Amino acid sequence: MASISKRLLNVPASPIRKLVPFAQAAKKRGVKVYHLNIGDPDIETPKVMVDVLRTWNTNPIGYDQSQGNPKFIESLITYYHSLGYRFIKESHIQSTIGGSEAISMAMFATCQPDDEIIVFEPFYTNYNSYAVVSGIRLVPIRTSITNGFHLPERSVIESKIHKKTRAILICNPNNPTGTVYTRQELDILVGIAKKHKLFILSDEVYREYVYDGRNHVSLLSYMQKIPKQAIVLDSMSKRYSLCGVRVGALITLNQDILAGVLRIAQGRLSAGLVDQLIAAKLTDVPVSYYKNVYNEYNRRRDILFKGLKSIPGVTVPKPEGAFYTIVGLPVDDSEKFCKWLLTDFQDKGETVMLAPAAGFYATQGLGKTEVRIAYVLNTRAIRRCIELLKKALLNYSKIHKV
Ligand SMILES: Cc1ncc(COP(=O)(O)O)c(C=O)c1O
Repeated sequence: MASISKRLLNVPASPIRKLVPFAQAAKKRGVKVYHLNIGDPDIETPKVMVDVLRTWNTNPIGYDQSQGNPKFIESLITYYHSLGYRFIKESHIQSTIGGSEAISMAMFATCQPDDEIIVFEPFYTNYNSYAVVSGIRLVPIRTSITNGFHLPERSVIESKIHKKTRAILICNPNNPTGTVYTRQELDILVGIAKKHKLFILSDEVYREYVYDGRNHVSLLSYMQKIPKQAIVLDSMSKRYSLCGVRVGALITLNQDILAGVLRIAQGRLSAGLVDQLIAAKLTDVPVSYYKNVYNEYNRRRDILFKGLKSIPGVTVPKPEGAFYTIVGLPVDDSEKFCKWLLTDFQDKGETVMLAPAAGFYATQGLGKTEVRIAYVLNTRAIRRCIELLKKALLNYSKIHKV
């Protein structure tokens, strides 16, 4: 009997999706489920992008170039130039199938099997999957809800570096914590990378979403200082509500990395032609679109934060960016609670789905009483979710004597 690989068995199930069968069963019973478990925005995709589909008349729909569609790459260059990074040229960009492929390519490009990448936990859980597939070990450094999940001191980070360490991977603004790293934090990371000759991989798919007057400090602003070591991972999914259009990018000045990832890209032929031509319209998206989307997430964040703060026993740092937050709940086990929300709880035929946070940590036992919330629903729905959560926690504490 042929046996499947050990590596395959080691690929973890996504904590964001693993309770889906229970949500489906709840829906079959007629229960409405509010999805705060997954970052799939409900905000409309810009019309200029949807119009590409409406007016599509190229037939046949062929492959595209392996490095990426020239129009898409050109639009990305215009976008990065508009952010002030005028040094970025076509030769610095590899178009990818979502930010997801950019992450996996960057890991593959910087590490041998058994090499290590430092991550700050809790972290975007799918990093685990890409790492396992490439035989890479993620070495977690703990951050804490008590200081809004900001980075620990330099010495703590350096203590985790040894001869197998190849890179530091950050997500900024952060999914799942909503943390936005400061210039000082980036300075420290870049200093460490220089001293220890490490790569820095910066996942910036939520770059536009930073609140309360903060500035987003992109690794792009350090790219010319550490041209061989800085790799930025980007995606169109969240910026333009384009999750179903699988387009992202890897940006670096390191030509060896670019030549290598191009060879990988040649192996998978091309990213989607239609997808990239939709994304190429990013330069035609009106400024008002961004403003509205930004204001909408900001409103949702405020409502969610205020609502959560009003629930006894709940701990929540004010999210600084992205559209996620990690929330401490007065429960014995957040996975049990999240499952119970779907199997046993309902209020007027409605319930809410959250992502248990343990899956966002690599260290066993951490995040056991935390959940991740994605505020991707409209303000009315978020208010209702707060109400549901309040009632659910009360019921749960009575039943489970928490
Ligand atoms: C932090 C982060 N990076 C990367 C991705 C991947 O995005 P995509 O593959 O849709 O571009 C996501 C998606 O949720 C994410 O949250």
